[in-house]
Parts: sequence; structure tokens; C-alpha cells
Amino acid sequence: MKRQNSRRVWMTILSFNSTTTTAPAMKTVTAISLAFFFLLLSLSATVHSHNITRILAKHPEFSTFNHYLTITHLANEINRRQTITVCAVDNAEMSTLIAKGLSLQTMKNVLSLHVFADYFGSKKLHQVTKGSTSTATMYQATGEAPGTAGYVHISDVKGGKVRFTPEDNPSQTDSVYVKSILEMPYNISVIQISSVLQSPEAEAPTAAPDLNLTSLLQRDGCQAFYDLLTSSGAIGTFLSSVESGVTVFCPDDDAIAAFAPKFKNLTAQEKTSLLLYHGVPLYNSMGMLRSSNGLMNTLATEGAKKKYDFTVQNVGNDVKLKTKVVTATISGTVVDEEPISIYTIDKVLMPREIFKGTVEADEPAPAPKAAKKKKATKKGDTTEDDAEAPGPDSSDDYSDDDAADQTASGGGRLLATASVVMAMAFSFSWLVFI
Ligand SMILES: *[C@@H]1O[C@H](CO)[C@@H](O)[C@H](O)[C@H]1NC(C)=O
Ligand SMILES: *[C@@H]1O[C@H](CO)[C@@H](O)[C@H](O)[C@H]1NC(C)=O
Ligand SMILES: *[C@@H]1O[C@H](CO)[C@@H](O)[C@H](O)[C@H]1NC(C)=O
Ligand SMILES: *[C@@H]1O[C@H](CO)[C@@H](O)[C@H](O)[C@H]1NC(C)=O
Repeated sequence: MKRQNSRRVWMTILSFNSTTTTAPAMKTVTAISLAFFFLLLSLSATVHSHNITRILAKHPEFSTFNHYLTITHLANEINRRQTITVCAVDNAEMSTLIAKGLSLQTMKNVLSLHVFADYFGSKKLHQVTKGSTSTATMYQATGEAPGTAGYVHISDVKGGKVRFTPEDNPSQTDSVYVKSILEMPYNISVIQISSVLQSPEAEAPTAAPDLNLTSLLQRDGCQAFYDLLTSSGAIGTFLSSVESGVTVFCPDDDAIAAFAPKFKNLTAQEKTSLLLYHGVPLYNSMGMLRSSNGLMNTLATEGAKKKYDFTVQNVGNDVKLKTKVVTATISGTVVDEEPISIYTIDKVLMPREIFKGTVEADEPAPAPKAAKKKKATKKGDTTEDDAEAPGPDSSDDYSDDDAADQTASGGGRLLATASVVMAMAFSFSWLVFI
């Protein structure tokens, strides 16, 4: 997200700079100040984040609600959202809910009905248009809510009370706004409501999520990859990562078939590393992949010498995975349910650790820029996908031999590019003045 931000700022600087080439000197000066302004802005702007667990931890009367947000993984989803309202109920209310003996998955559905995909501070709640409105909840966002079951009706009732009613249970009238717990406009609002929202659909028994990676990997187009995982024994490492979260990038059957001649050529050790390279020891939802560009470690990563990392890059609507050797595109989602996500990709990821030897990884200092570029070009000659590499900026992305790039943050580079732009702008304004 930070990287994306930086890129936007860089685009802004770039566009201001281009106006300077036709504009008078004053405009140049303005452009420079603006460039400075945006630079400072980008350096000071830390990635926004709220932590619902921490917010509620300050209020012991919501400890049960808080606990259930954690064990259902809803807390993580709340923290990832940019605009959200959480309706908490106190411990007494939670005990009546727990007494229903719902499964954890069902509890998750019920609680996700208490999380609105919009920002409702106290003021907005008391001024809903025409006295009532309907809002989508995270239950609706799961896609498991049939009909209007994922919506909650908010109404201003007599006496300044605000009432919450699940759309599929219009007879519930006992849940009203109690107080605001925290307002961070317009990112997150946490409020207390008097009763648990009761929705027959949300409370309906649900199957527990399938956490059997073995059977999940045998779904839609991952069969060939799965066969390699079992025949090599690499499956064990994947299975032992499930509990703490795992993301699998599964090359589709065509990709595996096309890669077969190269794969046969590898040693047993290399085969295992290549397969582990397709797993990330963290859960990554599609949303997370879409909002983050940067380096990602894999199950094959072992310290600095065996980095086995690749770069996630969002290009238009595509999420691309770039190794030094090949760029793959995510082509589908097999499963995306914390703690497991499995995506199909259109190519086998080729780590440079296997396909380039280990020489570069041991290089002590970053080479001078010109030499590096040359090296990159030479490397490109032997790679199968170099033609796809879009322009000079991406060749920079590829140069993670460079210590500065290993921070997995655009900040360093932004600073460098911004300085170059400003230096250019300065020289230009100087030219205009004389
Ligand atoms: C949120 O806060 C809790 C409690 O302070 C902490 O254990 C957890 O790691 C935090 N989560 C994130 C994503 O920072
Ligand atoms: C809300 O999030 C934005 C970034 O998305 C951030 O700039 C802003 O400071 C946040 N607001 C509060 C009150 O934290
Ligand atoms: C997982 O699925 C596989 C294949 O469908 C099955 O053989 C295995 O018994 C399952 N494991 C568990 C723990 O359910
Ligand atoms: C297999 O390895 C040999 C020797 O390293 C090489 O010459 C050949 O091109 C490789 N074949 C494939 C398909 O990569």
C-alpha cells in the first residue's frame, strides 16, 4: 500500500515536472515546492492502520466480543478494511449468544453481521436520511448470505433512539445504539449496541471451512502441481504451514506440462526448492495481494543466501508475480478463506537461485548503476520472459541485488527519483532565469 502511495506521488511529481517544460519560471518554482510538498507528505504518511483487538482491549466489558473476533479471524478482516463500523455487544449479551451453542463458523457469520462495510459515527447514525437506511455488512461480503440477509436496517426511532434490525428478521426491535466506543472518521467507528443482531440465516448451521490442503489442492486445475508436491515430498512443508497460514501459487496444469522438460533436468534438491518457492508461509487474501506491491518470502527462503523471494506487482487488474527469470499472472482463486489461500498462476515461477546459479546472491556490494543495467540485459538474454518486461522502471524492480531495494519499500527509490526530478527542475529553472 505504501508502495502504491509512493507511486501515485511520483506520478504527481512527474506530471508537475512535465508542465515545467512549457511553463514560465514561476511555474517551475511552484512545481518544485509542490514536489517538495508531496515528497514530505509521502515520507510522513505512515500506512493507516487500526487494530480492533487493541481498541477493544481498553474496554473489558467487551472482552468476550473481542475474543470471538480474534478466534473467528474477523479481527484481521476488520483491520484490513479502510471504511468500517463495528457494533460491539457487552459480555452479558455475548453469553446469551454463546449459550446457543453455535459452531465457530456460524459464530463468524453472526458476528460478521455486526460489522458494517460503511462508516457510521454517532452523528451520522442520528441523522440517517429520511429516518432510515440499509447497510451492507461483512456477512453480505462473504457471499454466504442469501437474499438480503447480509443487510442491516438502521432507523431513527422516536426519542432519539437508533435501532438496528437485520433485514431477514424485521421483528427484532430490541437492539439500539448505546454509545460510541471510538471514532476515527472515516476509517473506523466502534459503537456499542444493546443486543446481538439475530438473523435466522446467519445462525443457520454452516459447514466448517475445509482446511484439508490435500483435498483443496486437488481442486480445479491444480492436479499436476499437486502430483509434483506429493512425488517430491514437498507437500509435507505445505501441510505443516497450514495452521499459521499459507498461500499457495499453483501453476495450472498447462503451465506444469510446458515446464516438464526443465523440471526433469533439476536435481531432487532443486525440484523441492522450486516447489516450495510456490508457497508463502502467510495467509494472503486477494485483497491483500491487490493492495500490496513488494517482495515476498516463500517456503523455500532460508536466510540471505537462499532468498527465494519474488515481487508481487499490481498491473491494472492483474496481480503479477515477478522472479528475476519469469513473470506469472494470477489466473484464478481456488480458495481464499483464512488461513488458506490457493491461487492458480499461468506459469511456473523460476527462482534465480536455481536458474542463475548462486553467484549474484553472494555479491558483497551493489554494483554501480551502469554496470548493473548491463548485467541485467545480459541476464535477460537467457531468460524466457524478458520480452514481457515493460520498460526501464521494471528493470529497476528486478535489481534486488541492490541493497536499497531489499527494504521492500518504494521509499528509498522515491527519494532518489524525486531528487533527480527536482535536480532537473532546478537546472531548468536556472536556464529560464538566464
Ligand atoms: C493488534 O493488537 C493485538 C493486541 O495488542 C496484537 O496482539 C496484534 O498483533 C495486533 N495486530 C496487528 C495486525 O498489529
Ligand atoms: C484514515 O485513513 C487515512 C488513510 O487511509 C489516514 O490518512 C487518516 O489519517 C486516517 N484517519 C484517522 C483519523 O486515523
Ligand atoms: C484430506 O483429504 C484427503 C483427500 O481427499 C483425505 O485422504 C484425507 O484423509 C483428508 N485428511 C483429513 C485430516 O481429513
Ligand atoms: C538440461 O541441462 C542441460 C545441461 O545443463 C542443458 O544443456 C539443457 O539445455 C537442459 N535442458 C532443458 C530443457 O533445460
